[in-house]
Amino acid sequence: MNLRFRLAALALALLSFLPQARADEGLWLPLLLKQLNEADMQKKGLKLTADQIYSINQGSLKDAVVQFGGGCTGEIVSSQGLLLTNHHCGYSQIQQHSSVENDYLTKGYWAMTREQELPNPGLTATFIVKMEDVTSQVLAGVPTANVQEADREKLVQANIQRVAQAAVQGTHYQAFIRPFYNGNEYYLFVTEVFQDIRLVGAPPSSIGKFGGDTDNWAWPRHTGDFSMFRIYAGPDNKPAPYSKDNVPFTPRHHLPISLAGVQPGDFTLVFGFPGRTNEYLTSWGVEETYSVSNPAKIKVRDAKLKILAADMQASDKVRIQYAAKYASIANYWKKWIGENRGLKKLDAVTRKQQQEVTFQQWVNSGDEARKAAYGTLLPQLERSYTAARDYTLARDYVTEAALGVELVAVANSLVPLAEMVQSKVPATELATAVDKARAGVINFYRNYSAATDQKVATALLPLYATGTPTTLLPTYVKNLSKQYPGQNGWSTYVTQLYDKSRLTSNESAQALLNEVAKGNARALLDDPAVQLASAIVSNYRTAILPTYTAATDNIALLQRTYVAGLRQQQPERKFYPDANSTLRVAYGQVQPYAPADGVKYDFYTNLDGIMEKADPTNPEFEVPARLTELYQTKNYGSYAYKGSVPVAFIATNHTTGGNSGSPVINGRGELIGINFDRNWEGTMSDIMFDPDRVRNITLDVRYMLFVVDKFAGAKHLVNEMTLVSSSDQAAPEAGKKIKKVKAKRQSSTATVR
Ligand code: ARG
Ligand code: ASP
Repeated sequence: MNLRFRLAALALALLSFLPQARADEGLWLPLLLKQLNEADMQKKGLKLTADQIYSINQGSLKDAVVQFGGGCTGEIVSSQGLLLTNHHCGYSQIQQHSSVENDYLTKGYWAMTREQELPNPGLTATFIVKMEDVTSQVLAGVPTANVQEADREKLVQANIQRVAQAAVQGTHYQAFIRPFYNGNEYYLFVTEVFQDIRLVGAPPSSIGKFGGDTDNWAWPRHTGDFSMFRIYAGPDNKPAPYSKDNVPFTPRHHLPISLAGVQPGDFTLVFGFPGRTNEYLTSWGVEETYSVSNPAKIKVRDAKLKILAADMQASDKVRIQYAAKYASIANYWKKWIGENRGLKKLDAVTRKQQQEVTFQQWVNSGDEARKAAYGTLLPQLERSYTAARDYTLARDYVTEAALGVELVAVANSLVPLAEMVQSKVPATELATAVDKARAGVINFYRNYSAATDQKVATALLPLYATGTPTTLLPTYVKNLSKQYPGQNGWSTYVTQLYDKSRLTSNESAQALLNEVAKGNARALLDDPAVQLASAIVSNYRTAILPTYTAATDNIALLQRTYVAGLRQQQPERKFYPDANSTLRVAYGQVQPYAPADGVKYDFYTNLDGIMEKADPTNPEFEVPARLTELYQTKNYGSYAYKGSVPVAFIATNHTTGGNSGSPVINGRGELIGINFDRNWEGTMSDIMFDPDRVRNITLDVRYMLFVVDKFAGAKHLVNEMTLVSSSDQAAPEAGKKIKKVKAKRQSSTATVR
């Protein structure tokens, strides 16, 4: 529908409508809490001051929160650097230490001594030392009008480099600067990055991944989604690469753990590193996600997952090789399905259109300056999205379908070598590049089954060829369709591809690389997988990317202007910036919800529910014998509540991907749980938040403690933590030292009730 028509149609109905950030929505910047949120948080039950959450001068909660690896959050729970995160966040590390004989995915892993804590090369834990508004420095000398987005970006990046470098000169810290409010503001983050992070403990997948993909993104939930690591530092307590001589890190703060549990209405705070949200997207952006990207990506992953699942079930080797890959593909496949349902339910596109109508009215009713700044903004956005549409779709098919075939992906990683060969670089240069490629290649084949991947290719390549707008398909692929016509054409081609390519196993790939290093460049260029990958990727670079980038750059510029406009239009509203993998605070309260007519969900689950879901014939719902035994003997220690052990609870915190592993903290600053997911009806919250139906799902610390202590017998780890039980005492005044309570626990010999 065109904008003018919409304006007329909706204007009347909407005179009273003003979009507001509703309670509980928001991913707040820790350094602005005092100014924006402190009063509201305290009204809702926070007993601390904003300074106790974030301060650069004294130890505060932020000193117990880390970004775990690139995509999760973790929290420090002991004075010896003990770290908690999700099982699904430590999953690839647990997998890497596993083999068919020593299968920690299936059996779990518990280090009973420090020596047994396992190093994980490449894994990092990042603390935020401080953050700072550096907008004026970053935008210094950057024209505000009549500048191409790409040129603006160059100027901005140059400033960013300079400012970030200066910020950490002469220290062991690192720094980065990120755009906020779509580039209207910039913040500097100074970080301390630890590199020796060891695996301490993980429950078996039958606990840590209980419910599997069936229960993923859903409530009620019974997953014991946690794992434990420890940060090691050099003898000076500073980051150091792995060394036997490193020692457990001493943090500035570690979170005490509350055994008191939660009740509806209780204040909750989630402190972590949310990855990406798009709350200020326009109707055209939502429409693109809803009708173009999500359906295409869902379709491709649907096909891939069916094939992986069948092969994983048929072979233990394939199951272990593909466990982490499967989980991550399935995760967003399901998320997008839920997201689209949620967007439809909320009528998101219409609501966005309504906001745009009010915005346009505000523009039209303003002075000349306002009209000049925003007058044609929305029609321009519409045009840009229309221009981008086919290219967005083509890009989705390249990344999901073409590169979703692992043979194409690994061949693609060698395309730079092929290009070096073609441009006739000196032999020594080529040999160095080959050596570099070799390491990545070896790693890749560890978790590769050519037979499985061939089936994936047979399904995905035709999807790629038919889903991509024809004009954006490489000639090479169009010719393949002609060369191999008919129903079985693709399957004939794929069979030949996997027969002929030397990239289907590590041995033959290494042999191929050896030949290349010796100067036989043809060997690489003749490989059919390399040919296919280069055709797809070079076409992507020349036919898709330029237009796609021009359009999305333009959208970025317009979106920045739109967000600036919205902030002017609604000066009374507190705006939070979209998530961008930086440290944020979300606060809300424990709350049940009613997703549909006649349905109401309670706010917590417990161990009894695990037993109800138990199904020995379904690998997703297998319950370990030891857990059943503890249940039958009610051997719960001090982790019990109303005769069972609480497992998970829900609250109204605004969270997103990257918040997994985040500490969920009560009003006194104590850990009450580990965030790990959202509910099915709330998966659209990255685009539109609705406090009535969006819930974050938290693992109750008492289940974690119960599993570590009673199930795993790793009580030494519990003893390392600071447990507090506040049910029997008034809330300590903010800042006062929290009373350490020695929890009384039963011995682990079972007593039958
Ligand atoms: N949905 C959660 C998040 O986005 C957890 C995913 C891990 N679990 C799984 N069954 N794949 O990361
Ligand atoms: N499970 C997500 C994560 O890994 C959290 C979410 O998307 O709610 O970060």
